[in-house]
Amino acid sequence: MHQYQIAVIVGSLRHDSFNRKLANAIVKLAPAEFAFKQIPIGDLPLYNQDDDAHQAESVMRLKAEITAAQGILFVTAEYNRSIPGVLKNAIDHASRPYGQSAWTGKPAGVLGASPDASGTAMAQQHLRNVLASLDMPTLGQPEAFIQVRDGLFDAAGDIGAGSKKRLQNWMDQYVAWVKKHAA
Ligand SMILES: Cc1cc2nc3c(=O)[nH]c(=O)nc-3n(C[C@H](O)[C@H](O)[C@H](O)COP(=O)(O)O)c2cc1C
Repeated sequence: MHQYQIAVIVGSLRHDSFNRKLANAIVKLAPAEFAFKQIPIGDLPLYNQDDDAHQAESVMRLKAEITAAQGILFVTAEYNRSIPGVLKNAIDHASRPYGQSAWTGKPAGVLGASPDASGTAMAQQHLRNVLASLDMPTLGQPEAFIQVRDGLFDAAGDIGAGSKKRLQNWMDQYVAWVKKHAA
């Protein structure tokens, strides 16, 4: 029986995205009482404040998924030392109309993977600034700046043995964080 529904937002639309792979793999480290659902963001229009009074169907769907969730898990790529525009677009959509943000109070976790040694550290830091302004309690530690290297995933697509302990600890802390902050 799933007590906690988590909305997973992947900050990449790339077909073979490492971050989507990471999102798919890390959720397997959570206990059975947690269920995870990836929420698509690639079908959202570009945010335009003129549309606040009549948000698109895809935006309403995004907001409903977030509202129904007890927690949010962001797994983002890093583009030019920040979060990809598609992720910011989704965040902005669900934050509006003013006073009707779907994000408020939702406990969040931030992860990201990159072939670069910095492991999306700068994107994650930018994302944390955004989440703070949205009043989302965000797990501070442990941080996980993940470099995509051989062995990060095993042949089945699960987290590889060399990274398992660290990412299991991350998930354990995230689970505790959501339980503490979920309404
Ligand atoms: C427009 C663009 C900008 C990028 N900038 C960065 C960057 O600042 N830091 C970084 O580590 N990787 C950067 N990369 C490389 C990405 O980490 C790499 O493409 C990665 O595979 C993207 O994540 P994904 O596999 O989940 O799509 C950039 C890639 C693109 C397309």
